[in-house]
Amino acid sequence: MAVMRSVMYVPSNNEKMVGKSVELEADILTLDLEDSVPPAEKAKGRAKIKEYLDSSRSSMKSKYLYVRINNWETEMTNDDLEAIVYPGLDGVCLAKCGSAENVQRLDWKLEELEQRRGMPVGSVSIQLLIETAKGVINAHAAATASPRVNSLIFGAVDYTKDMRVTLTSEGQEQLYARFYTAVAARAAGCVAIDCPFVAFQDKEAFKVSTEEGHQMGYEGRMLIHPSQIVPSHEIYTPSADAIEWAEGVKKVFEEEGIAKGSAAVTYLGKMVDTPVYENAMQILNTMAEIKAAESA
Ligand code: COA
Ligand code: MG
Repeated sequence: MAVMRSVMYVPSNNEKMVGKSVELEADILTLDLEDSVPPAEKAKGRAKIKEYLDSSRSSMKSKYLYVRINNWETEMTNDDLEAIVYPGLDGVCLAKCGSAENVQRLDWKLEELEQRRGMPVGSVSIQLLIETAKGVINAHAAATASPRVNSLIFGAVDYTKDMRVTLTSEGQEQLYARFYTAVAARAAGCVAIDCPFVAFQDKEAFKVSTEEGHQMGYEGRMLIHPSQIVPSHEIYTPSADAIEWAEGVKKVFEEEGIAKGSAAVTYLGKMVDTPVYENAMQILNTMAEIKAAESA
């Protein structure tokens, strides 16, 4: 699984922020062409992204470069893709994904552009924003509509608008969709990425909300402000305690359990059986993936 602890958003038409973004150390840097860019500025945003691919992509400190594109209903998707699918682009995030057909159409268009531009077919990944009631209902079908789909983001801002409710920092109104999107992502073998947290100055509330989402199955977060990158990495990287626990489980299960003909043993007063062992191994694998990504 790809490491996607921080998915940092930057409005593509904002020259100052795009300039600063080269120095940001996120797992994914996303230049936005959708709702943070006003309609009259879309052409400028597309041009800035092409310029970024040509001149800044090779020196940027984030690991991957994605672009968020407008969904098909806007009739801007084709222009977005024509302008930005060039070598150096790692993925596109489809805003307001509503159905499997939305994803299939994107897959076909990406293949055409990859062929026309001499890029390996399949090299551009797809990330889906699940941020409407319809999108939530169809999340798993959309996630499995193309092998390019590697991650699902739950988009709380549009979701609350669609549900005609008020977005709060506590997020009670988002619980069902936030839980559901994480499950749909995991069922499709994708990474679940948590919603943006708009009260970006409230660092404590950000931490509480991010830890809550982590326990729902989210392995990264969509970020709107540079100050959210480091706290996200801290929360989504297994803690020293978690690693110690996982190593303890591994040792006890392998040496006291399996080696002696048992698949259930006791560790620190709790039962450890096969899924607990596998969960511990998953923590160790995640840590190994993060270390590999950080040293790449
Ligand atoms: N990308 C790059 N740089 C950013 C940034 C971002 N998303 N958000 C803030 N910065 C920079 C600012 O330009 C500022 O730089 P400076 O110190 O050189 O002046 C610095 O970080 C501190 O920013 P701050 O003053 O705290 O915030 P702001 O008022 O400039 O911006 C937002 C606040 C919310 C408008 C801004 O963070 C933003 O536009 N975020 C992204 C919005 C977005 O992409 N939305 C779509 C997805 S939901
Ligand atoms: Mg949105």
